[in-house]
Amino acid sequence: MQADLPADRPTLTIAKFDKSLHDRSAFSCGFAPIDHFLKSSLSDQVKAGMVAAWIATAGDEPAVSGFYTLGALTVRPDAGPRQWQRARAPDVPVIYIRAVAVRQDMQGKGLGTALVIDAMRHCMTIAEQMCAAATVLDVLRDDHFDRRWQFYQELGFRPLGDPMNPTRVFIPTTDVRATFATMD
Ligand SMILES: CC(C)(COP(=O)(O)OP(=O)(O)OC[C@H]1O[C@@H](n2cnc3c(N)ncnc32)[C@H](O)[C@@H]1OP(=O)(O)O)[C@@H](O)C(=O)NCCC(=O)NCCS
Repeated sequence: MQADLPADRPTLTIAKFDKSLHDRSAFSCGFAPIDHFLKSSLSDQVKAGMVAAWIATAGDEPAVSGFYTLGALTVRPDAGPRQWQRARAPDVPVIYIRAVAVRQDMQGKGLGTALVIDAMRHCMTIAEQMCAAATVLDVLRDDHFDRRWQFYQELGFRPLGDPMNPTRVFIPTTDVRATFATMD
C-alpha cells in the first residue's frame, strides 16, 4: 500500500470532517450518488453517529479534495476466511468503508491510495479498541467498475465471496497490521 503523490503537490491534510471548515459545495468525483451523499447526507449521518468522515484538503484551501467514511457493520461468517467459520460466531464485526472519493481534477495522482492507507491506519486503531476482523467495502458498479476493482485489489483487498453482495471486498485486520509493521 503505497501512495505515489507528486513532489510539487501542495501539502495535503487529512482531518476529521468539520462542517464549518470543509467546503463541499464544488466537490465532484464523477459519481453523482457519492457527490450527493457528501453534500446532502454526510452532515446528518455524522451528527447521528452513523459514520465518521475524514476529509483531505490541499494547502490552505477549504475545498474538499477527497474524503472517506467509516462505519460499523457485521457480515456473515460463511463468507470470508476459514478462520471465521472455525470461530462459530453468528456474525463477524468489521469496519465498513462506506465511501472513498477524490475530486475529479485530482484523480490519478495517488490521493485515493493515500486516503485508503489513512483509512487503514484508523481501522487498525479502532480494531485494537473494539475488535473488528476486517475492513470491508462494496465496489460500486458502473462503467469504471474494472478500474475500481483493480484499485482495491492492488491495495490488498480481496473478494469476500458473499453471494448477496458480489462486489464486496475485504482486507483482514491481521493483514493490515502486518503491512504497517513493515512500513513503520
Ligand atoms: C476510485 C478513486 C477514489 C481513486 O482515487 P485516485 O486518486 O484517482 O486513485 P490513485 O491515483 O491513488 O490510483 C489510481 C487508480 O485509481 C483507479 N481510478 C482512477 N480513476 C478512476 C475512476 N474514475 N473510477 C474508478 N477508478 C479509478 C484506477 O485503478 C487507477 O489506476 P490506473 O490509472 O492504473 O487505472 C477515484 O477515482 C474516485 O473518486 N472515483 C469516483 C468515485 C469512486 O469510484 N469511489 C470508489 C467507490 S467504491
